[in-house]
Amino acid sequence: MSNKLPPLHIGDLVIPVPIIQGGMGAKVSTAALAAAVANCGGAGTIASVGLGSKAGIIEANYVQGSREALIREIQDARSLSTGAIGVNILAALTNFEDLARTAAQAGADYIISGAGLPLRLPELVEGTKTKIIPIVSSARVARLIIKSWYKRYNRFPDAVVVEGPLAGGHLGFSAEEVEAQEDDALEDIVRDVLNVTREYESEHSVKIPVIAAGGIFDGKDIARFLKMGAQGVQLGTRFVATDECAVPAAFKQKYIDATEDDIVIIKSPVGLPGRALKTQFIKELFANGRKKFTCNYHCLKTCDIRTAPYCIGQQMLNAVDEKLVDDAVVFAGQNVYRVKEIVSVKALMDELVAEAEANL
Ligand SMILES: Cc1cc2nc3c(=O)[nH]c(=O)nc-3n(C[C@H](O)[C@H](O)[C@H](O)COP(=O)(O)O)c2cc1C
Repeated sequence: MSNKLPPLHIGDLVIPVPIIQGGMGAKVSTAALAAAVANCGGAGTIASVGLGSKAGIIEANYVQGSREALIREIQDARSLSTGAIGVNILAALTNFEDLARTAAQAGADYIISGAGLPLRLPELVEGTKTKIIPIVSSARVARLIIKSWYKRYNRFPDAVVVEGPLAGGHLGFSAEEVEAQEDDALEDIVRDVLNVTREYESEHSVKIPVIAAGGIFDGKDIARFLKMGAQGVQLGTRFVATDECAVPAAFKQKYIDATEDDIVIIKSPVGLPGRALKTQFIKELFANGRKKFTCNYHCLKTCDIRTAPYCIGQQMLNAVDEKLVDDAVVFAGQNVYRVKEIVSVKALMDELVAEAEANL
């Protein structure tokens, strides 16, 4: 594969192609996908959320199950690739600390963490080489995290992912903000965050690369963000539509069939809005407001089991069960309606790199 794009340096970790496959739970981005991306020179991210469940049901021994499954995923990815392999951990998880320690001890190259403020992350990876990368949706939050880590731990983020309002999955904005944002909002946020990171870079002689995410669809988009000063990009939706993504065919077919009218913003027990496809479950949720559930394990710090409209863990797990895809939360980015076919990770990476090179 030709690659004239500048590599992404995250501390001493070198990612030859500056494209990160974003972590996608539950069980959407597992070892097979992460390794395939890493084998093409990008960085592959294993999503940690929901790994501790068998047969779609959240088990009583969720914490231990999640820990063991995460170690297995990291080991599997390592056996398939010598490239950059990281882990995504939602800061809102009640077992966030346990998963972060586990990922670092198991040798993950990096941890990317959002959906909440991962303020204790530096101490959880102490003594390891694991890079720590918060996800932010504003310059204000970028500054808050940098300040807090510096003050408390004398440590800076090794990079920052800036996720805009067009992303799939949970969004770091209110539903009203998501509706009100222009399509180029990510450009503005990246520019603002770059001002913050550059300030700390020059004051403290450190490097805090910025990685843009949310609605990035083709190589033209990648080139646009690299030219602005971002050192890398993170993509989710495009990587679901690949052979190596482990979700059932029915999940991928939803992506191919999706029109703009099928893309909705939903409320989630995570406490943030999420972008998903209008499945039968979502239609019923919009009509009824609630789907009753039982909870064996309180997986989210932010979930009030008595008032939560549904169990986000179970509904995300349903999406990766061939028979239950319609009774599920199927997350997808705003540009999902442009996905027309399922391709190999290699074909996708080749296309993205060639287009980005041509537009740099
Ligand atoms: C199916 C799906 C699941 C996701 N799950 C997570 C997750 O568990 N944690 C997270 O931080 N981001 C999650 N995301 C966001 C992605 O990591 C990525 O940042 C986002 O999809 C980028 O926007 P794009 O889909 O437009 O490329 C998810 C996205 C999708 C599409």
